[in-house]
Amino acid sequence: MQDVIVGQRFQLGRKIGAGSFGDIHLGTNLETNEEVAVKLEAVTAKTPQLIYEAKLYTLIGGAAGIPNIHWYGNEGKHNVMVLDLLGPSLEDYFEFCSYKFSLRTILRLAEQVITCIENVHAKNYLHRDIKPDNFVMGLGKMSNQVHIIDFGLAKRYQDPETKEHIPCAEGKNLTGTAEYSSLNTHLGFEQSRRDDLESIGFMLFYFLRGELPWQGMDDLQSAEKHKRIMKKKVANPIEDLGKSFPSEFATYFNYCRSLDFVDRPDYMYPRMILKEICFREGLDVEVPFDWHLIYENKKVENEARYGNKAEKTEEDELALSIRQRKSTALENESKERR
Ligand SMILES: Nc1ncnc2c1ncn2[C@@H]1O[C@H](COP(=O)(O)OP(=O)(O)O)[C@@H](O)[C@H]1O
Ligand SMILES: [Mg+2]
Repeated sequence: MQDVIVGQRFQLGRKIGAGSFGDIHLGTNLETNEEVAVKLEAVTAKTPQLIYEAKLYTLIGGAAGIPNIHWYGNEGKHNVMVLDLLGPSLEDYFEFCSYKFSLRTILRLAEQVITCIENVHAKNYLHRDIKPDNFVMGLGKMSNQVHIIDFGLAKRYQDPETKEHIPCAEGKNLTGTAEYSSLNTHLGFEQSRRDDLESIGFMLFYFLRGELPWQGMDDLQSAEKHKRIMKKKVANPIEDLGKSFPSEFATYFNYCRSLDFVDRPDYMYPRMILKEICFREGLDVEVPFDWHLIYENKKVENEARYGNKAEKTEEDELALSIRQRKSTALENESKERR
């Protein structure tokens, strides 16, 4: 697909991401020279969702922490959506940090992630696929800003005019990513705002612990995998998962679980209790994120060892190097498959 022009002005570059139903490419707006991200989906996809996702971005894109959409349409064999180009995902940065984040970084991310979901809910939608791959940092001046992406599974939960809430259906198949799904989602209940928040809770535990006890079952068929994950979630109460960490994380979780199906969460409350940890532990949230500190340290170390002059890091240097490494890995992967 490289070098193809879509929407008459966006030239496709390297692949920078691969998801469950399409690829993300780097792109350039030939009129403005601005870089963009281009999401592609084969028109033959079993359950096409890109046009739906594009319509959603048209409705909610541009709010704080949600990228803008530039164009969408069809180009031959692909549905195409063009978005603001953003930086690495939280999963990419977590990997870069060897699956260890400091409490300070986790708390700073948590505050922003909760605000992202609050902004999505304010537009009458649930996200329903909360996970570290679906939160990306910005670039340049926005490099400390978390953004929420991937609205392929989003669903309207209330009427924008009357605010009437969808009913609590039962017996639903699991929508989303089982590792981060709330217990009620496993049990087949229709999702609502509380479930997005509970999934954020699992993501925070993932960052605290470096892994979740039910990860790594990818070789199982999905029904069997979902069943086993649910069993493990039941067998690992929140208090146990959070044993070695500040008790506020379990409090956050219990708050999510105390919400009724139609309840509007009080987003301030979890932000406040997490902030209390910062005060108590005397954490300075103005310190750069872990990945920036690690990158700077590596540069200084290299200077000491090899005499390379450690220049002050250019903006986005780390984000670009992560993107390049990922592109190369994705390209090698697709070569192997051919
Ligand atoms: N606007 C963007 N800018 C930079 N990277 C992006 C952007 N959108 C997606 N990505 C990258 O591509 C990956 C897959 O995109 P996503 O929209 O989540 O697709 P899927 O629905 O297939 O998971 C993301 O995890 C992220 O790493
Ligand atoms: Mg995704």
